[in-house]
Amino acid sequence: MPEVNVTEHLLLNQKKSPMARGQFTHLLNQLILSFKIISREVTKAGLVDVLGFTGEINVQGEEVKKLDEYSNNVLIHRMSRAGVICAMSSEENEGIIEIPAGFPTGDYVLIFDPLDGSSNIEANINIGTIFSVYRRKTPSEQPATLEDLLQQGVNQVAAGYCLYGSSTMMVMTTGSGVHGFTLDPSVGEFLLSHPDIKIPERGSIYSINEGYTRYWDAATREVVDYFKEIDNERKSPYSSRYIGSLVADFHRTLLYGGVFLYPADMRDPKKPKGKLRLMSEANPLSFVAEQAWGLATDGVHRILDIQPTALHQRVPLIIGSPLEVEKVREIYRKHGY
Ligand code: AHG
Ligand code: MN
Ligand code: MN
Repeated sequence: MPEVNVTEHLLLNQKKSPMARGQFTHLLNQLILSFKIISREVTKAGLVDVLGFTGEINVQGEEVKKLDEYSNNVLIHRMSRAGVICAMSSEENEGIIEIPAGFPTGDYVLIFDPLDGSSNIEANINIGTIFSVYRRKTPSEQPATLEDLLQQGVNQVAAGYCLYGSSTMMVMTTGSGVHGFTLDPSVGEFLLSHPDIKIPERGSIYSINEGYTRYWDAATREVVDYFKEIDNERKSPYSSRYIGSLVADFHRTLLYGGVFLYPADMRDPKKPKGKLRLMSEANPLSFVAEQAWGLATDGVHRILDIQPTALHQRVPLIIGSPLEVEKVREIYRKHGY
């Protein structure tokens, strides 16, 4: 198949009213350059001293790893200079990231998790970058505000992730289906490798951290018991797979089907809604899931319909094949959710 790169594919497949092509294409190309730079650092992580901790604590109260910080700096540096963005938000930064004075700005807003799965870096397990793009809501001539960032996921104009693993692969949607591009290091281009990804209607895998079983409510425990049943709807127990990197667990779910769950748990009273962030993790992956004919919910609501109230708010996430996600919702409803 003749090589198709991201820009070409975008122009060919922009069914919906084409966004301001120049601006968006430029935004995407700067994102892609960021992914290539991060990928280079990730792949040599074992060699260069980018492993280990910086000794700092981030806004989430988590120890920041050098690759987290490196990836965050690459994205902020490069996207600030893209000339098409008016504001950004990163999982690693407390507040809105403004574009430095003197730099040209544009009508897009970028929200990202610069490095997801960072607890797995030393073990050479897949990690990734998750991104989400919105159009600004406030007038162009004004400085961007939180209103431009705190948008429902349904307003996203693009979203996806870059997975740094045995190969570097970018999966994204602009609202016209989901497409996967694999980095060919010999030409330095992401080339179309997985056109029009669709998630299987039913899968055979469930993915959740069962170490927290004692912290789950009765509904979540019943959900997991269902997937272990012999007499469930597929007449066989599901396989359990859990990598601990959301991008990797989600990518497997997208390609193989099944369901990933990070439910609310009573582990941390400060995080009653679980660990995953709505803006930088759940919304982008839910946009991808729905564009691949999958579903994504917090157990009750469609993730993309949730009106955010804070940049780093957490949300329970149940995401994957429609039949499994619907089953989870059915059990939650039975428990009065
Ligand atoms: P991040 O590295 O961006 O903080 O995200 C880590 C998240 C996510 O990747 C994964 O699904 C989850 O942490 C795993 O959490 P547990 O170790 O609590 O299962
Ligand atoms: Mn993450
Ligand atoms: Mn992260």
